[in-house]
Amino acid sequence: MNHITGRNQKQARKGEGDINISHHREQWHKQNTSAAADRWLAEDKKHFLHQSLSTPCLDVLISCSGSSIENLEGKKYLDFHGNSVHQVGFSHPRIVAALTDQLQSLSFCTRRYTNIPAIELASRLSELMGGGYRALFSPGATSAVGMALKLSRMVTGRFKTISMWDSFHGASLDAISVGGESIFREGVGPLLTGCEHVPPPDSHHCIFKPDGDCDACELRCARYIEYILDREKDVCAVIAEPLRCTAVNPPPAGFWRYVRDACDKHGTLLIFDETALCLGRTAKMFAHQHYDVKPDLLILGKGLGGGILPFAALLAKDEFNTVGHTALGHYTHEKNPLCCRAGLEVLNIIRDERLLLRAEYLGAQMRNALDRFHTRFECITDVRSLGLMAGVYLDNDDLAEEIMYECLTNGLSFKISQGKCLTLTPPLTIDESELQVALAILEQALVVASNRKIKT
Ligand SMILES: Cc1ncc(COP(=O)(O)O)c(C=O)c1O
Repeated sequence: MNHITGRNQKQARKGEGDINISHHREQWHKQNTSAAADRWLAEDKKHFLHQSLSTPCLDVLISCSGSSIENLEGKKYLDFHGNSVHQVGFSHPRIVAALTDQLQSLSFCTRRYTNIPAIELASRLSELMGGGYRALFSPGATSAVGMALKLSRMVTGRFKTISMWDSFHGASLDAISVGGESIFREGVGPLLTGCEHVPPPDSHHCIFKPDGDCDACELRCARYIEYILDREKDVCAVIAEPLRCTAVNPPPAGFWRYVRDACDKHGTLLIFDETALCLGRTAKMFAHQHYDVKPDLLILGKGLGGGILPFAALLAKDEFNTVGHTALGHYTHEKNPLCCRAGLEVLNIIRDERLLLRAEYLGAQMRNALDRFHTRFECITDVRSLGLMAGVYLDNDDLAEEIMYECLTNGLSFKISQGKCLTLTPPLTIDESELQVALAILEQALVVASNRKIKT
């Protein structure tokens, strides 16, 4: 029995990713998957618990390398999705070599002991933040968010938080309490108390000033946060992504400076969740560096595991190293040497392959092409980008799906966010020629969809 109701489907469309049940999906399957893939997909459906966004699966993969993933039949998709883990692409030879080397010596680190890759990674990450930060590692960013929330409560003695509607910080109970997407919050019963939410800042489609005139508005979005801080004296932290990664939603100029100052005035910590944005995605090592504001706590994840291992980090200012013998994380894989080796090698690759510059250069190429598409195709309402990530906004959800499946047919994979945003996040290591191929596939899909629209 299919438990995904029409209502839930509709809500899923507005959230983190594209939905997995639609007529476009069914049609795509009929035309694109082989009998062998269908058999494995049926097995997958039989053996996994079903949930939104990840069930049923689209295709069966057998390999990934560089910018591509490959299915059972050897068809390759350029992966502009990659769950945002693939800043250095898939199976980067240096990561594979480092992990192979590490596997042959210390493959795990029992509690009570430490290891050199873990110490070096903590030190390198602090250095990249300008010094003065300590780390705790965890197997995923959801648990790093949990540690950040606990640490904020402990060091401030307060418990409330301010976070943003439409945000995502992971799917556990504490993370969905501060998260703001209904698809994750519905049907699970009571969430954490004291989680206040504010509308996300959005310099393109602001709910405070729909005409988008941020100057005239004088940062009402930031002042709203201060308004709460003025009234609620027990807010331990403001937690947010510096910009919403899936919707590529930059805040207006001055937003984070204003919020940082308001937090300082009220003794509230500022937590940036850079799970998907860190390590060069925005053409800076950390996305908050675009806003010239430093967080008290910083969450890193996804690409930190080199596109291979599940790994995340909480960085906290040295002054918050005060909880002594209270447990913050206590994760089995807290100092996993393989994960730490992967993290170190990612940092080396970003430095040696000059990936921050590359993200800027390729990001500009992608942006130019998308701006051209914006002028050419009426169905595109907006294009947003920062570094090598872009959001292409279409005028309706159905069209977004149609375009995505057309692209998948032709070998380009990406995800849809908030119903109508095509979210494009290629590896920072992608070849220029591969980027051009991907953009040509997208352009062709826009032509096909536009022609179909004219005919109907
Ligand atoms: C901003 C943000 N925070 C937290 C998470 C959760 O990360 P993980 O799946 O590693 O727990 C995600 C995952 O998509 C994310 O995008």
